[in-house]
Amino acid sequence: MRAIVVKAFGDPDVLEVAEVALPEPAAGQVRIKVQAATVNPVDVATRAGALAPFLPELDQYPLGWDVAGTIDALGEGVDDFKAGEAVVALSDWFGTLAGAQAEYIVLNASAVAIAPTGFSPAEAATLPLNGLTALQALDLLGLSEGQSLVVTGAAGAVGGYALQLAARRGLKVYGVAGSEDRDFVTGTGATFIARTDALPEAVRAVLPGGADGVLDTAVLGGPALAAVRDGGAYTGVFGPAAPESERGIRVDAVSVQSNADQLAELVFLAESGALTLRVARTFGFDEAAEAHALFGKGGTRGRLVLVP
Ligand SMILES: NC(=O)c1ccc[n+]([C@@H]2O[C@H](COP(=O)([O-])OP(=O)(O)OC[C@H]3O[C@@H](n4cnc5c(N)ncnc54)[C@H](OP(=O)(O)O)[C@@H]3O)[C@@H](O)[C@H]2O)c1
Repeated sequence: MRAIVVKAFGDPDVLEVAEVALPEPAAGQVRIKVQAATVNPVDVATRAGALAPFLPELDQYPLGWDVAGTIDALGEGVDDFKAGEAVVALSDWFGTLAGAQAEYIVLNASAVAIAPTGFSPAEAATLPLNGLTALQALDLLGLSEGQSLVVTGAAGAVGGYALQLAARRGLKVYGVAGSEDRDFVTGTGATFIARTDALPEAVRAVLPGGADGVLDTAVLGGPALAAVRDGGAYTGVFGPAAPESERGIRVDAVSVQSNADQLAELVFLAESGALTLRVARTFGFDEAAEAHALFGKGGTRGRLVLVP
């Protein structure tokens, strides 16, 4: 089968479409025929070598964390799915090293949920990684109804889902994003805060004591922490970049895990219109380098999606 791989870390043009062995599902696993797989910041960082210190040494690295496709083969003991069913799934890539940017992927059935109806595979593929990250980050923050949450990177993939999920939890939500993203932020019911180098001041202008919680998807660190009230909560998206705790603030970083039940809940929310699935553009596997280059420029709204 064809799969996108990286043999030597570097610029987008190191990406190759290679012929690799078709993976076989073991007990408890399914094989998915891939229809769409997104390009996420983690893929770009992997390709560039930024994650090399955290990876085993391999001849080539497959890429891709989230996938939409159809069930192609079932391992022993899997009876939740039928061949041909449309599904979405998350590869816990650091553990599986199974890349979604391939014609087929084998994953544990516990990482898979039925795909949302009414959406294209490209749209559906935008849900698992970033929807689960947003949901699990909100769980880590542990805020109660009526408390205030500031989301940095609010127009991004994690940020957008976080705005919508937080609103459903009854939080008072504030989204920090560029002025061109004002309508997107306010469209989720959140209050818009313009992206600025003086974030603590901008937040405290609307929340004088600081926010009960900050979800820092833009990886701002210190300035985002400074926007949290004394004794509040900060959750980041990259553990090594999490700031030191201060003023009794609980500091965490989310590390997304596959979870079929949570993914099914996200699918339900997408189908009911509570979550917006955003695709910027689709690319063929042969155009993966173009997708990475575009992503690297920043400013993409909605995900870039690869189709085999
Ligand atoms: N730990 C985990 O389990 C996990 C899982 C998923 C993702 N992540 C990480 O989460 C982060 C966000 O991912 P994503 O897919 O949501 O990325 P994304 O779609 O690129 O969104 C990031 C957003 O942050 C914006 N931004 C950058 N600097 C900002 C600032 N100073 N103020 C406000 N917004 C700012 C970006 O705007 P521009 O495009 O205009 O720059 C972009 O809209 C990435 O670092 C990713 O690797 C972690």
